[in-house]
Amino acid sequence: MKNTENLERLFKTLDEYLTHRRDGKVVDYKDYQTLKAELAPLRKTQTGNWDQLWETVDQYLKYSVKTDHPQFFNQLWSGQSLPSLIGEIISTTANTSMYTYEVSPVATILENQLLSELKKIVGFENGEAQFTTGGSNGNLVSMLLAREKIYPGSSQTGLAGKKPLAIFTSKESHYSWDKAINATGIGAENLYHIDSDQSGAMDVNDLEKQIKKVIEEGKVPCLIGGTAGTTVRGAYDPFDQIASIAQKYNCWFHIDGAWGGSVILSEKHKPLLNGVEKANSFSWDAHKMLGLPLMCSMLFVRESGWFDKVLNLGDTSYIFHGEDRPDLGPYSLQCGRKVDILKWWLEWQFYGKEGLESRVNNLVDLGKYAQKIIQNHPNLELQSEPWIGNICFRYIHSEVKDLDRFNRLVRDQLHQSGSSFTNVAYLDGELTIRLILSHFELKSEDIDTFFENFISMAENHLS
Ligand SMILES: Cc1ncc(COP(=O)(O)O)c(C=O)c1O
Repeated sequence: MKNTENLERLFKTLDEYLTHRRDGKVVDYKDYQTLKAELAPLRKTQTGNWDQLWETVDQYLKYSVKTDHPQFFNQLWSGQSLPSLIGEIISTTANTSMYTYEVSPVATILENQLLSELKKIVGFENGEAQFTTGGSNGNLVSMLLAREKIYPGSSQTGLAGKKPLAIFTSKESHYSWDKAINATGIGAENLYHIDSDQSGAMDVNDLEKQIKKVIEEGKVPCLIGGTAGTTVRGAYDPFDQIASIAQKYNCWFHIDGAWGGSVILSEKHKPLLNGVEKANSFSWDAHKMLGLPLMCSMLFVRESGWFDKVLNLGDTSYIFHGEDRPDLGPYSLQCGRKVDILKWWLEWQFYGKEGLESRVNNLVDLGKYAQKIIQNHPNLELQSEPWIGNICFRYIHSEVKDLDRFNRLVRDQLHQSGSSFTNVAYLDGELTIRLILSHFELKSEDIDTFFENFISMAENHLS
């Protein structure tokens, strides 16, 4: 087959997939062994065979989870708008890397322009910003900057011979902090998980208590990691108060807004982020709440100069060739970096801030809508009051003795039947159904359908 024929087939495949992405089941579920056996013939390859290639593509799509489906509630991201998908396809086709201006001239200009605009929205107009490979990477980079703040020059000298550093995040924060503290050499035993209150927000009294305790133990407070939209409950830590504590103890203050940072675009809900302008850094994933294809993550720093100080290392004369060119590579943790700006730029251009703001407002409203359904049903129990689109609940009934097992079974069977796909988590040791509202086109009818599916599956198991 010629290129054109394959490209036509590609377009037809995309068209068909996108047309039906919201129909039928969320997933054509097969357990691991069955799916592995089914895909095994694909390994008998014949090189240069286009038919086999398309057979693999068809199988891939057939068994992939339809993350754009209105009953996909499993992740903090879902769906993708057409403008941003076009951006993703075009940037993949042009296949360039963000490290140098000469290899990515247009993308470099677009990235600098959009980040400048977003810095103003965050309140860091004099600061700096970069795209990262994800929210986890944003937390890691913030920890590197914090390490340098407390021990200037430590990106050169390392930490040997210095008092141990201590990092503080809430016990509901994301596990990427545990990875970051390992990667930065600070060591996992120096990560302190602060208590959270009933709503899931960090308890600042416990924070200060823990800071005083580690100082007595001879450690040096280094970074407080607040969260804007925790992974399970969607809680927002009290940033204003944390900022004062960070200032008092000379800590770097980072806000992890991977999931809930998008409320910065909403006039109605941005008070959840009050105090963000006092943080040293803020990370935010546009691919989560806003409906862009994965990944689209940004890190903002209130003051300029940190990226150069901490990340611009090594002999790079073979790649970065001149001061007149705004090469972005020196300021990333890695070398090659995918172009994530085009999809974000096109989305911003096509829908504007107002269009994105209405997505955020819609998801928060739908969170309240789901809350009411749960509170009005005698067999549903709300396990935590929703802040945004994280709904934590379970089915209860006098006949059910083991609620964890029962709810897990209902959730798994809904998943395997392909009707609705949620996640689960544990809150204070109890299993909770974790219904995540993240799709930018989600409607109240989709939530009604979910609860109909869930309740009828639960009732089937009772009888
Ligand atoms: C609060 C929080 N921070 C960080 C992350 C990690 O983000 P990423 O998957 O972009 O690395 C997540 C992911 O769900 C998250 O919920």
